[in-house]
Amino acid sequence: MLDALLAEGVAFPRDWSEEDKLLFLRRYIEEMDLIMAFIDRNYATTDMFDPSPHRRVIALEARTTFLFLSDIHFAMYLTFEQRKVVMDIIREGGNTFDIKRYLESIGIDRLSKLYSLSFAHGSIYRNLEEIQLSNKEKTNVDIERACSIAPAIRMLHSADGMATVKCFPEEDLSEIGKALVIKKFTNDNDIATEFKAYKSANSYSPEFVVVEGLGSFHISNNTKKGRLAGKVSIVTGGAQGFGKGIAESMAGDGAHIVIADLNLEGAMACAKELNEQYGDTTAVAVQVDVSDEDSVKCMVQSTILSFGGLDILVSNAGILIAGSLSDLTKKNFELVTTVNYTGYFLCTKYASEPMKIQHKYAPEYLMDIIEINSKSGLEGSNKNSAYAGSKFGGVGLTQSFAMELVEYGIKVNAICPGNLLDGPLWSDPERGLFRQYLDSGKVEGAKTIDDVRAFYEAKVPMKRGCTIADVARAILYVIEQQYETGQAIPVTGGQVMLK
Ligand SMILES: NC(=O)c1ccc[n+]([C@@H]2O[C@H](COP(=O)([O-])OP(=O)(O)OC[C@H]3O[C@@H](n4cnc5c(N)ncnc54)[C@H](O)[C@@H]3O)[C@@H](O)[C@H]2O)c1
Repeated sequence: MLDALLAEGVAFPRDWSEEDKLLFLRRYIEEMDLIMAFIDRNYATTDMFDPSPHRRVIALEARTTFLFLSDIHFAMYLTFEQRKVVMDIIREGGNTFDIKRYLESIGIDRLSKLYSLSFAHGSIYRNLEEIQLSNKEKTNVDIERACSIAPAIRMLHSADGMATVKCFPEEDLSEIGKALVIKKFTNDNDIATEFKAYKSANSYSPEFVVVEGLGSFHISNNTKKGRLAGKVSIVTGGAQGFGKGIAESMAGDGAHIVIADLNLEGAMACAKELNEQYGDTTAVAVQVDVSDEDSVKCMVQSTILSFGGLDILVSNAGILIAGSLSDLTKKNFELVTTVNYTGYFLCTKYASEPMKIQHKYAPEYLMDIIEINSKSGLEGSNKNSAYAGSKFGGVGLTQSFAMELVEYGIKVNAICPGNLLDGPLWSDPERGLFRQYLDSGKVEGAKTIDDVRAFYEAKVPMKRGCTIADVARAILYVIEQQYETGQAIPVTGGQVMLK
């Protein structure tokens, strides 16, 4: 692998000695599991080790980055000086724990969520030392600026949104590609003026846009194929169940996917599977709590820093806590509401921002916000009021968001599936609803789990539960249909019909 890397001509920063380069590459290859030992899993990231032509970018990033390759790829930003200390530790025969001790001594284990975002996704900022020094305000400004510029560049490059744009620290790129250098800018309008001038002078788009004082943006043309080729999508709750199935199906149709879930390990495992199956740049994992505003904001920023834009939000994360009026506590009622209802609001609020920027530069381009609602959003659900209420509320949000966002080319629809009887919610042998309903005697006369299942299947005119494929088809319909917004579409085998 070392030979292969060298043969590919990895470009290193000029001030690295030959010894440094070799050492770096060796460690990069050898320390497959090292990262797990000392970086909190919150700092997971992917796709640092993209195939060429990104490799050049990676080498540039390496100046401020200490990279490790694991089963999934990880990266951690250090300043050049800090990186040198780590190299010295390695050179002197230090092990994982020596490195860990050093990192702890400079506060790496105490990074906030915001900083872990910067660690994720191989992005990003001009002065990483600022991040290390916890200059949160300044870091915020840079992230927000980068996130307002990348979607503009993406659409300026091609109005069908199929390219991806990746941000990384500012560097002198004049030698390595078609670079547009912007020396003075205040907002995305400046970028647009210079981008258009470059395009008309050269009759092609730049490959890199270097914004002095902020960072650089690398544009990659889409190489994906399929009905969603090149679309950038977030799937919340993507680590399991419907969300995982939706992510798999969309990746199979050529989309880039951000698997965003409270369960980072599950999201990472899912992203890894997708990258193995559909290529390295297919998926990234991001930890999110959809009911937490900062966390949702970070999720959207991570998406932009990784892929440069956003075309589809699938707001799927949801929870169900059933209970009669006498059993259901206020706390549980509020928990269901905050995840299912407020979470959908927050995700739409932040996801629509980059979409609006994309619309500014590609007014004909259509984007989608899709809520995975439920048949319980269309008719009441006995002793399940918190869930049904949150889902009915979701339909109200869908209609209202649709009205508000239509002028930005953003369609907003809800898909209302019937019961996913084969998913973990129902079929988990210990905690699934079949087991719970059997144990609580909810289904009269049922003696086995199969009896409970048969009872629920019998309620459906089509005599079966909903499948992920059914929902995936509905998602494709919503995206491809250009004349549908504000709808709540039942996918229930006829169990619930629109009035
Ligand atoms: N399973 C069904 O029968 C069914 C039927 C109709 C609709 N739905 C809806 O489909 C969606 C997915 O349901 P599922 O059955 O796949 O659920 P699931 O419990 O199998 O998976 C939900 C995922 O969401 C994640 N999650 C939970 N809370 C989160 C939070 N605050 N922030 C981020 N992620 C969070 C979980 O970690 C999990 O990975 C939900 O909105 C649900 O209401 C499910």
